[in-house]
Amino acid sequence: MSSTDHNSSTFNDTLNDMTAEPATARRIVVLISGSGSNLQALIDAQRHDRLGGEIVAVISNEPDAYGLKRALEANIEAVALPHREYDSRDAYDGALIKVIERHEPDLIVLAGFMRILTPRFVQRFLGRVLNIHPSLLPAYQGLNTHARALAEGVALHGCSVHFVTEELDGGPVVLQAELSVTSEDTVETLKEKVHAREHLIFPIAVQWFLEGRLKYTAENATMDGHPLPPHGMRLSHADAAEELDETLDEDA
Ligand code: GRF
Repeated sequence: MSSTDHNSSTFNDTLNDMTAEPATARRIVVLISGSGSNLQALIDAQRHDRLGGEIVAVISNEPDAYGLKRALEANIEAVALPHREYDSRDAYDGALIKVIERHEPDLIVLAGFMRILTPRFVQRFLGRVLNIHPSLLPAYQGLNTHARALAEGVALHGCSVHFVTEELDGGPVVLQAELSVTSEDTVETLKEKVHAREHLIFPIAVQWFLEGRLKYTAENATMDGHPLPPHGMRLSHADAAEELDETLDEDA
């Protein structure tokens, strides 16, 4: 072996050693207000090594939120930070920023966090906050999305993962899952079917972000360096239903 070969093989060995080092786990803080079924989907994905990181803390503004129990059961730090104990939205968000920063997250996930965030909060973590919303954004920003979709008789409903900006439910959309609405659907059935789709797509979007594939820009989200369309990537009703083992409805 020439000395050049020797050097290059040493170099390669060193490189291999470096790549063999386990990467530091990416850190996720999840904010909730309620049941935390989306949190549970993220916990389950982490267990199966499909999240791309570790949930290091769960914070709830509602001290009785069931999601806090889910966190404890999964040995995740659970923090109750009741908003009612603060005089203003700004004071609360200031406290929230402090608790979050103590955990040094790479990503903050809003999983049913039912509070409007101040511009200060949004600017502090811009590009590092993902939210799940129960509609095909930009349709039905805000509350009561299922009732509004039914009242308008839409054929397609669903859910969206998006980056959080100062506009409520208005940041760049990353990923959506469609749901075909049938004549039998009620607010309850829509809620159930949309929830199932949320549990499917939220962990995927989190993993993409933590792998560095998904990024925020002021205009849009990008995936592998390519700008995504305004509705992000979309899982069709048929594909979602198949993933979820749903019976495809005849009149859908
Ligand atoms: C979900 O429907 C989500 O889209 C909305 O709040 C709900 C939270 O549900 N932002 P859960 O607490 O995760 O069960």
